[in-house]
Amino acid sequence: MISSSRHNCYGGTCRLLGLRAARRQFEVAFVDQNDPIAIEAAFERIPALVLIETPSNPLMRVVDISEIARRAKTVGAEVAVDNTFLSPALQQPITLGADFVIHSTTKYLNGHSDVIGGAVVAAKEKDAEDQQRVDYDDSERFSPAGRGGSEESDDLPCRRSTEWDGGRRSMMITDQHHVPPQITVPCSDFRDK
Ligand SMILES: Cc1ncc(COP(=O)(O)O)c(C=O)c1O
Repeated sequence: MISSSRHNCYGGTCRLLGLRAARRQFEVAFVDQNDPIAIEAAFERIPALVLIETPSNPLMRVVDISEIARRAKTVGAEVAVDNTFLSPALQQPITLGADFVIHSTTKYLNGHSDVIGGAVVAAKEKDAEDQQRVDYDDSERFSPAGRGGSEESDDLPCRRSTEWDGGRRSMMITDQHHVPPQITVPCSDFRDK
């Protein structure tokens, strides 16, 4: 498996992958996915799965999902994207070539701090069925209230666009006052919008 580099990947994900790899359940290479040489070297090991976290926590680094997905297909690797930060309101990885999308539903998807949970979305029917089987056998499941709380996302686009506006306004203020930007912006076209 190729994952984002250790300092550029949610700590819990990084620790979980490291632990499982130490138990020899799989091998994992933590790679700066914006470093073409490092990622090419990792692809030469023919990974089964590439895990992308974009934007990343904590550094808000962005990687090109389409480009990595294109390269992954050439070696038969599947691509999973942790989309917790942008949420489906702002980024839809399956349309960019991902096979799986992962969400911490605790965060933006729920948005009301009253649910703890996660979700895996599969692009292919077969993967979704496999995932369902794993869920039935091995996982904790949402309570009906937790499921409702995570699906109750009618206000998601509104919450996200308000946050986006706030970020954009902060950026304009730092520009006007010539403050050295201390804000990490997860989209390169942010200033143009
Ligand atoms: C990118 C990302 N993925 C996963 C998680 C894990 O979420 P949870 O706290 O719901 O387990 C977090 C938490 O901050 C995160 O930032």
